[in-house]
Amino acid sequence: PLPEAFRTPLTLPPVLQPVSSTTTGDVYEITQKVATAEILDGVKTQLWGYDGLVPGPTLMTRRGRRVTVRHRNALPVPTVVHLHGGHTPPEHDGYPTDLILPVDADDATTEHGHGGRVSHGERVYEYDNDQRAATLWYHDHRMDFTGPAVWRGLAGLHIVTDDEEQALPLPDGDRDLPLVLMDRSFEADGSLAYPSVDETLTTTPGVSEPYEAGVLGDVILVNWTPWPFYEVDAVRYRLRFLNASNARRFRLRLDPAPDGVTEPFVQIASDGGLLAAPIAHPHLDLASAERQEVVVDFSGYRAGQRVRLVNEFGGGSTRRVMEFRVTRTASDDSTVPDSLSTVEPLDPAAATVERDMVFRSQAIDGQRGWTINGEPFSVDSAHAAPKQGAVEIWHLYGDFHHPIHLHLVHFQVLGRGTKRPGRFDHGWKDTLDLRPAEQARIIARFDGPKGTYVFHCHNLEHEDMMMMGNFEVT
Ligand code: C2O
Ligand code: CU
Repeated sequence: PLPEAFRTPLTLPPVLQPVSSTTTGDVYEITQKVATAEILDGVKTQLWGYDGLVPGPTLMTRRGRRVTVRHRNALPVPTVVHLHGGHTPPEHDGYPTDLILPVDADDATTEHGHGGRVSHGERVYEYDNDQRAATLWYHDHRMDFTGPAVWRGLAGLHIVTDDEEQALPLPDGDRDLPLVLMDRSFEADGSLAYPSVDETLTTTPGVSEPYEAGVLGDVILVNWTPWPFYEVDAVRYRLRFLNASNARRFRLRLDPAPDGVTEPFVQIASDGGLLAAPIAHPHLDLASAERQEVVVDFSGYRAGQRVRLVNEFGGGSTRRVMEFRVTRTASDDSTVPDSLSTVEPLDPAAATVERDMVFRSQAIDGQRGWTINGEPFSVDSAHAAPKQGAVEIWHLYGDFHHPIHLHLVHFQVLGRGTKRPGRFDHGWKDTLDLRPAEQARIIARFDGPKGTYVFHCHNLEHEDMMMMGNFEVT
């Protein structure tokens, strides 16, 4: 039986303290290890956690302060760490074959490196962190096995702030809530259920056939608590939503909406940080890996009121997400300014190259898989070789829902088919919810160190089943 909804308080992931700091940066240490937690009442769940925690500890960082993270791998399998949304040089970007072998690995494991930059037991990731304030996240990215590793818990937040953001009168402190949404399934004994073809997660990638379109769970977790509740004052809160699901999409709505308010979600930021100006929405759509930051004004509710956050794309148990309990009135000096930041629009006329990328299901050597331009992922070939600093337009075509993510760059959405960008496409994005039979156009400037990066579908089962490609900045 599933646990009862809205009975467990939401918890917030702890903030990771640096082990050392200088005037220019901070050094952190994380051990990836097996851990056990009581996610569901009365049973234990075995997890893979950064420092044994799910979600992993949050890195609270400042623009321009260098972030160094020493990751130790005490798990039974190799791992790779990718900072999603990070403007990161290739050797620190968590390329899928740049493995950290387990601390106690024997030499045979090295073979799984496919020629990547393999390290033994630990690896030090360096991030300049010189990028806009934004809600980034870090997660496992090992070739062929990202889906099961993230499902078991390898994901956490990396928040960047900067002077511009700090100067805004937005809700902050304990009125700034990270909400990591995901779905999972559990066996009766509490263990996580995931339909891997290869339970050892070492040789054969992928999931059993009925799950090839993506693995969905029947338990909705917020920060890994099933259907939690959270007590709020009747004031404005900043809610940082991350959809950390393998494959589930959310359409969030407040039930009830505050009296007389039809657009209670005031969006202030997207994947790549602050929008130019706030946008009010009646609901919020989030595909895997997308972030939306909104301000919700709970003063539209009366003290004692319970407000449900529901997922209109879900059914039955997955329609519920969490409950806000409005406890009392309180003073609030926050506001949402009409102007938040500068978002320089990339000019299509500046684009020197246009490329087509077709994301679809296809048989490869008699096996079903997911491809880009008919090709399964290979470490040896690139789908694109943008010149360093060049502006390019990519036309993305899909046969199914594919949340398309590019490493290194943030992009802007130019349009969907003949239509203008969708209501959640504004600002800087790193993941686009490409819809079935749709064509979307994105524009990006390929600024950054030369080298090879990946782009892929962030439906993690599609990614593991080959829907990934390389682009090489030349
Ligand atoms: Cu969030 Cu390449 O991944
Ligand atoms: Cu996909």
